[in-house]
Amino acid sequence: METEIIRAIPLDARADADLVRAAKVIRDGGLVVFPTETVYGLGADATSAPAAAKIYAAKGRPSDNPLIIHIAKPEDAALYTYTTPTYEKLARAFMPGPLTVILPSRENIPKTTRGGLDTVAVRCPSHPVAHRLIELSGVPIAAPSANLSGSPSPTSAAHVIDDMRGRVDMIIDGGPSEFGLESTIVKIEDDGSLTLLRPGRITPEELSAVIPTVRIAGAVTEQLKDGEVALSPGMKYRHYAPKCPVFLLDGKTDAVREYLKAREGHIAVIAYSEDITALRTACPDADLYDFGARADELSQAHRLFYLLREADKKNYDTIYAPLPPTDGVGLALYNRMIRAAAHQIVKL
Ligand code: TXA
Ligand code: MG
Repeated sequence: METEIIRAIPLDARADADLVRAAKVIRDGGLVVFPTETVYGLGADATSAPAAAKIYAAKGRPSDNPLIIHIAKPEDAALYTYTTPTYEKLARAFMPGPLTVILPSRENIPKTTRGGLDTVAVRCPSHPVAHRLIELSGVPIAAPSANLSGSPSPTSAAHVIDDMRGRVDMIIDGGPSEFGLESTIVKIEDDGSLTLLRPGRITPEELSAVIPTVRIAGAVTEQLKDGEVALSPGMKYRHYAPKCPVFLLDGKTDAVREYLKAREGHIAVIAYSEDITALRTACPDADLYDFGARADELSQAHRLFYLLREADKKNYDTIYAPLPPTDGVGLALYNRMIRAAAHQIVKL
């Protein structure tokens, strides 16, 4: 299939005319990749089973892994789900923005979109291009991250083009993704409490300030045990994993330096900015990638998927990266990085 690539920066009259055409592609059952504040999404009409089926085919995604539906206004959630007072509170505090909420689905969202579940995930993105596209489409847009299944979510149009050219009708280039990791996902339980299924820019600490009871699902930090059922189907699939093994190093800078000094082969090291100079001396043959300052988790989030994709092109024998802390945005980094590393942590 021929893929048309359009640029929506700046979002001027010309770009808006292109978005009108993109919205028509959505309404006609086609596939459009669009930017959001988290990562790029692979969109189709969420109310159409055949359109949603095309998403699974283009991504190579198992059909039991449900899609998030993207809406233009927080109150539109009530058109497609049964909202609750907890949803209203979350919407007031965090929407539009990088939060996805799981609610019981109405019948107008086909089972194909929700991977056969009775619930559906809803998100109201803050990115102006995403917002405008949904508004012009007049339908909710189902969209997973716009990567091929198993590779890191795309955070630039170049990544999307690598993965999706020839598989979709249109790609909208909106520049680099602001946050760079996927949205926070919470499920609203019957008693109004929250279960965090995927950490992101909205942290457990911020959620707790609005909804007092926030439980963190075990799979956020741990490996699923054999036979254990994933609360979120996406948690059971291998994710973000480069072709070569990735190890996370859990230790002080000195210990990390001594450990890396003794490594051999074609290796890549993702390191905090403060540690780059010392590591360059300790392992002159390794390729070093700057992860951002140790305390600057937003820069690290912004760079992580980009770095994993860049490193993956170089056919390293091994990639080493720091084990992030588990508080604040660190929990989102930790969650993505333990998956990239298939839970291989070296305690130093
Ligand atoms: O930031 C994001 O959320 C991006 C942008 C494009 O919005 N989207 C995204 O979608 O990351 P995706 O499909 O790559 O990840 C959605 C995750 C999957 O792990 C899926 O299993 C889970 O959400 N999910 C979707 N619907 C669910 C449901 N009804 N119950 C439990 N988990 C659900
Ligand atoms: Mg994804």
